[in-house]
Amino acid sequence: MKIGLCTGGGDCPGLNSVIRAIVRYAVGSLGHEVIGIEDSFNGLLSDPRRIRPLTPHDVSGILNRGGTILGTSNTGSPFKRRKPEDPDPEEKIQKVVSSFRDLGLDCLIVIGGDGTQGIAYQFSKLGLPIIGIPKTIDNDLTQADVTVGFETAIEVASDAILRLQSTAESHERIMVLELMGRHAGHIALHSGMASGAHIILVPEIPFTYESIIRKIQERQSHDKHYSVIVVAEGAMEKGAEPTYRPSSSGKLQLGGIGTVVADRLYQMTGMETRITVLGHIQRGGQPCPRDRILGSLYGVKAVELAISGQFGHVVVMRDHKMKAVPYEAVANTFRPIAADDMYLKAAEAIGVCLGR
Ligand code: F6P
Repeated sequence: MKIGLCTGGGDCPGLNSVIRAIVRYAVGSLGHEVIGIEDSFNGLLSDPRRIRPLTPHDVSGILNRGGTILGTSNTGSPFKRRKPEDPDPEEKIQKVVSSFRDLGLDCLIVIGGDGTQGIAYQFSKLGLPIIGIPKTIDNDLTQADVTVGFETAIEVASDAILRLQSTAESHERIMVLELMGRHAGHIALHSGMASGAHIILVPEIPFTYESIIRKIQERQSHDKHYSVIVVAEGAMEKGAEPTYRPSSSGKLQLGGIGTVVADRLYQMTGMETRITVLGHIQRGGQPCPRDRILGSLYGVKAVELAISGQFGHVVVMRDHKMKAVPYEAVANTFRPIAADDMYLKAAEAIGVCLGR
């Protein structure tokens, strides 16, 4: 078989482990061909130099490397016209389809988040044989218990929270840490639990300042004159909208809620308050061991689907098993923290304030 491979959307730790597993299994063990396509579907749109065969030699030494050796893009869907001077989307769609055919590909494995999988699903409906592999630090993909990148983001964020704990205690301050996750609070909830955050604010539970201050005062009554607050970038006060910041791409970009919370708490309590925004540090650098293992599992399962001709499916890990689910069950969906989520319930049971 000749298998095309690309990575799309925001990068995350573990993408190279997936690429390595696909190439080692498909090419090294089974003797098929894998063709790497750069920068998501953009690689099929223009320059043929952005397309190259991948051998086990090419993927040697990348298991623990951050980013993606194939590059990625989270702008420029072939189905959308961003600026009036851009070519007609129909031209770009036809170009992707004809490049796919000209390369003689039997299928395309797309490693990407919800945006990229949405694009892949549209091509799949146009008849391209596509297999999806989900990745995102946000872990907000329906059907999958865990996506590549999430565990590393938790490790990075957990480490940051622990570091804030000690300096918060020394100075008797309120420390606010803003984390990524878009409209889901999985990263904030998991890392907050892992490192003993006193207050965790997630988009799924709009918060009140009264509840946060109650928790700070409760801690003070136990002679704890500092508090660490983890706030997911998509979190919001009850009755308010999420906080966005200006973005050069023109896309709505979440961010700024940490500063809003810190400023307001300072006004309301008079306590010294500091804000840290962890940002893309959560996405960069070496993947943790779990993401390296998970990347290998996802890659191997995708090759199995390719060999058995099970196109139009996305690989997911669910209930500790690798499964294939149809694209329509995954594309354009989103998995927030459920009201009965066991992590959420456990956090509250052990006294973490969730802002309600
Ligand atoms: O979806 C992954 C993610 O890191 C989100 O958590 C965050 O909101 C967004 O991507 C940031 O995107 P960009 O890299 O375009 O700033």
